[in-house]
Amino acid sequence: MNEQAAPVGGEPQMRRRVELVVNGQRRSAEIENRLLLVHFLRETLGLTGTHVGCDTTSCGACTVRLQGTPVKSCTMFAVQADGLAVTTVEGLAQGGKLNPVQEGFKEEHGLQCGFCTPGMMLVSAALLEENPNPTEEEIRFAISGNICRCTGYQNIVKAVQWAAQKTQSEQAATTVA
Ligand code: FES
Ligand code: FES
Repeated sequence: MNEQAAPVGGEPQMRRRVELVVNGQRRSAEIENRLLLVHFLRETLGLTGTHVGCDTTSCGACTVRLQGTPVKSCTMFAVQADGLAVTTVEGLAQGGKLNPVQEGFKEEHGLQCGFCTPGMMLVSAALLEENPNPTEEEIRFAISGNICRCTGYQNIVKAVQWAAQKTQSEQAATTVA
């Protein structure tokens, strides 16, 4: 038999330095390899707008954008995002101006407790960048990986429609000017 004794103090902790661009800022830290991206964002960087609802890839409360694509940050390690760009809900507003999706959620009462809201807004913003004029069905499909236990989804859909209209009218005004 060739058994190795466990190291004194249990498993050795594998650590690594990572560098990510989070909400446009370069952030670097030495972390355990096993640290999930959601815990890196919340506990290492203090960005607590990213929520943890299930830890099993079901609820979408932990959604962030990785290189622009919505991902569930409870389902990947922070080291997998090394060298990549992450956007959290804290990065949605730009230059002191709310993202149209944030305005839409406010105008159409797209939230109640707000727990799902950061993830909902991030997937909605990604949808509108790809498809500026989505149908209701397309909106419902885009948010289908995100669970809301409060609203019944109707006002979330309206919020995304509001944001789509606002963006289009702003773009039309810019074109005319
Ligand atoms: S906490 Fe990540 S999907 Fe629920
Ligand atoms: S507003 Fe409460 S979970 Fe969506």
